[in-house]
Amino acid sequence: MPVQNLLFHGDNREVLRTHFGEGTVELCYIDPPFYSRRDYYHPATGEDPPSRAFTDRWTWDAEAAGAYHAILENAGGQQTAASVALLRGLRGMLGESSLLAYLSSLTLRVAEIRRVLAPHGTFYLHADPSAAHYLKLICDALFLPGGGEFRNEIVWSYESGGRAARDFSWKHDTLLRYTKSARWTYHADAVRLPRTETRRNHMKRGVDPDGRGFRSIKSAGRIYRYYDDEGVPPSDVWTDLGHLHQRDPERLGYPTQKPEALLERIILASSDPGDLVLDAYCGSGTTLAVAQRLGRRWAGIDQAETAIAMTRRRLAALVTPGAEARPDTPPAAPAATINPTPD
Ligand SMILES: C[S@@+](CC[C@H](N)C(=O)[O-])C[C@H]1O[C@@H](n2cnc3c(N)ncnc32)[C@H](O)[C@@H]1O
Repeated sequence: MPVQNLLFHGDNREVLRTHFGEGTVELCYIDPPFYSRRDYYHPATGEDPPSRAFTDRWTWDAEAAGAYHAILENAGGQQTAASVALLRGLRGMLGESSLLAYLSSLTLRVAEIRRVLAPHGTFYLHADPSAAHYLKLICDALFLPGGGEFRNEIVWSYESGGRAARDFSWKHDTLLRYTKSARWTYHADAVRLPRTETRRNHMKRGVDPDGRGFRSIKSAGRIYRYYDDEGVPPSDVWTDLGHLHQRDPERLGYPTQKPEALLERIILASSDPGDLVLDAYCGSGTTLAVAQRLGRRWAGIDQAETAIAMTRRRLAALVTPGAEARPDTPPAAPAATINPTPD
């Protein structure tokens, strides 16, 4: 039976190992903790003090040492010689530190994600400058030896939030995009952006026999024609998508909730209707909600009860007219594995 619209409450490594077959997922997006070394709270529940949604604090403890040794021993068989060598090298550089604990956790989980990706599948890892440079090495070590490819480092640039007094403010996230092989799904036409006039001022304006306006330019003996109504495929720098602001109607009160427009671009570009979209750190269920709206199958995993309850409500509201996505009462404890949408 193919995985169909399932939400799992638990640790994603365990869930992936026990519930997902090899090569079953066409697209996986993850937005894991970024190594910010802080806790994240729910402002929406009105509790005083607010309850913790999840933590992004890491310590080198027995669990971290276990994860590190599981990589070195290739427990589960998903590591590569490169990922084992990399983690050994990182231990030499970082010591038995909180950062090594974080990177060991991500290495184990990205390895499982690579296993479940379809041969033509795509993986997006959302990170920020705290650890994106290490995570890129980890993805290289896990994806490239088996014929996978690094395709993009997308810079998502935004203006929201405060400004730093003694540094240039951090105003971008990084999305690493990898494919499992040299054959992958990518629909440039589904994510075209409106053309801006200023970018094309140096081009010649024209109208074709059907009355369609265009700009054209001659380069190396060839004439290139860009139609006004066609739009332009996005580059790897995304400046047109904002973070959710405080009063954004899309906001459900989950800390670090991402905008649906970001996931819409990713899902439209990198999957087909009916494909399975996985978010193994699903939080409030943004990826799953957009996948549902765009006619994809979806699967979400989160270890936080409040995330599962919020996602369940969000998805139920999409398929049940009149249901409320926003919580007014504390959520009931979710079942271990639940399916919020009727088949
Ligand atoms: C940054 S949030 C994701 C937010 C989400 N993209 C959204 O739009 O709401 C990261 C989530 O990962 C979850 N998480 C962290 N470690 C996990 C693990 N090992 N297994 C499953 N979920 C995990 C946390 O509970 C948290 O909800």
